[in-house]
Amino acid sequence: MKKFLDLISEEMKKAFEAAGYDGALGKATLSNRPDLCEYQCNGAMAGAKIYKKAPVIIANEVAGKCADSKIFSSVEAVAPGFLNLKVREDFVRDYLARMRGEDKFGLEMPEKPCKIVIDYGGPNVAKPLHVGHLRSAIIGESVKRIARYAGHDVTGDIHMGEWGLQMGLIMTELRERQPDLAYFDENFEGEYPKEPPFTLAELEEIYPTASKKSKEDAAYKERALEATFKLQSGVRGYHALWEHIMALSIPDLKRNYKELNVDFDLWNGEAAVKDIIPGMVEDMKKKGYAYISEGALVVDVKEETDAREIPPCMILKSDGAALYNTTDLATIIDRVKTFHPDRIIYLADKRQNLYFEQVFRCARKTGLVEPETELLHIGFGTMNGKDGKPFKTREGGVMRLENLIREINEEMYRKIAENRQVDEEQAGETARVVALSAIKYGDLSNQASKDYIFDIDKFTSFEGDTGPYILYTIVRIKSILNKIEEQGGEISGATLQKVRSEAEKALMLEVTGFNAMMETAYAESAPHKVCAYIYNLANAFNHFYHETKIVTEEDEEKKAGWVALLVLTRDILETCIDVLGFSAPERM
Ligand code: ARG
Repeated sequence: MKKFLDLISEEMKKAFEAAGYDGALGKATLSNRPDLCEYQCNGAMAGAKIYKKAPVIIANEVAGKCADSKIFSSVEAVAPGFLNLKVREDFVRDYLARMRGEDKFGLEMPEKPCKIVIDYGGPNVAKPLHVGHLRSAIIGESVKRIARYAGHDVTGDIHMGEWGLQMGLIMTELRERQPDLAYFDENFEGEYPKEPPFTLAELEEIYPTASKKSKEDAAYKERALEATFKLQSGVRGYHALWEHIMALSIPDLKRNYKELNVDFDLWNGEAAVKDIIPGMVEDMKKKGYAYISEGALVVDVKEETDAREIPPCMILKSDGAALYNTTDLATIIDRVKTFHPDRIIYLADKRQNLYFEQVFRCARKTGLVEPETELLHIGFGTMNGKDGKPFKTREGGVMRLENLIREINEEMYRKIAENRQVDEEQAGETARVVALSAIKYGDLSNQASKDYIFDIDKFTSFEGDTGPYILYTIVRIKSILNKIEEQGGEISGATLQKVRSEAEKALMLEVTGFNAMMETAYAESAPHKVCAYIYNLANAFNHFYHETKIVTEEDEEKKAGWVALLVLTRDILETCIDVLGFSAPERM
């Protein structure tokens, strides 16, 4: 279904042509003076230069051609030559009626869906999830859902970090504590125990301890590097330990992501491509791309046009160990082979910009991807505390994700229990649903690349540009519809009627923007556009609601028209929060 604004532009184009001017001048936009008009066209201003005529003369001529337009109720030429547009209420109404009838409210599906792989989440196994992983998960999940809604074939991959130094550190510390374990005995040929030699809680303590020691003790770090290499080269005992770590960590990760309503199609990690690495390295050497520099194996990726220094991409460390880059490159090979993606999107901190630039260039240079395959890094900013510094616990440590979620759940519970709309048991569940909207909307409503301040008070507020406000609006619509249904009114069969008020029309005009918004949100991988749209839509609805006595309206026709508008508004709001990755309760 054509976009609303495009229909308006087409109508203006006809008017420009009828008046003898270039139709391209007819491009319309949303009004930046909503007090004066709904849409505007500045084509006469641009036309003035081409046709060497006063813009207001052109504008007047064009306005004259719109007299019996089926789209415009008024076209006004105003000094110095703007065209102020208002649309007919039956035109808006027909458009909304068509939206209701069409799949996905008339969003056009691509002729050929793109194959997309989204790499997001990126937790490091054996380290508890912390707030730094929140953004990757939240934004990635939404980017994935938007692309899917827009009709594309999307696979989400968690890409766990489980093949690097953190594993070597854990093994080194374990060996320090339990040197007699069979895993460390190179002559051991029997079967290793099924039970791991540590619990998850121990594991989470072992890693930071080891990491701290390695920073203070060079010999310890050396042992950790060696252990990493042993793991990567397939030493049996190390691999068995690795399996234990994975078996303990993955269920915990799954629980955490489920809590966030984040869901991966693939639970691959760096290690999934370990068997691809040797062949890839050989090939890069054979083709002359990779060479030894200061002991390490590297590929040059700088280009003549670079304004800044782009260092070579390191493929193997001097001890022969694979790095973060190595597994990322091998993963590209794997994804190309499995999915033939048109596009691979990576969600990672923007501080990794240079890193991804190196990896992408290396992948292109060494022919791992076709030239037309798009590699895109969405680099997100930092989640800061109220002090403007990276978010920390009160004690100044790294905040565990679980604790952060718990804090918000508690705050939300307090607010919801205060409201007393729901009973005790329901309040807990509702609080969780609303808290998730607070966290996710708080994040997603900012452009991803920007830093933002994580402000619990603001995010959990029922007023303003927040998740709870959006949910509150949805719940309000649902409750009105329930009341009307209880009165015996028809809900899903109700049809739009003549538009009666400014507030009603304003709400309808907000609704019309859905397909254009979703197209842009997909094209720009920009969940914040969805947030901005639903915030405006919720405001328009609440304005209409405050001006209109819907439930007690006696004119049945009028009421039915409003019901139809409410149903559409509710469905669109719910669709939008679904692509943002959260949902609304029935009551709150
Ligand atoms: N594990 C990484 C980190 O914690 C993020 C992974 C991002 N994805 C990727 N393919 N490199 O920083």
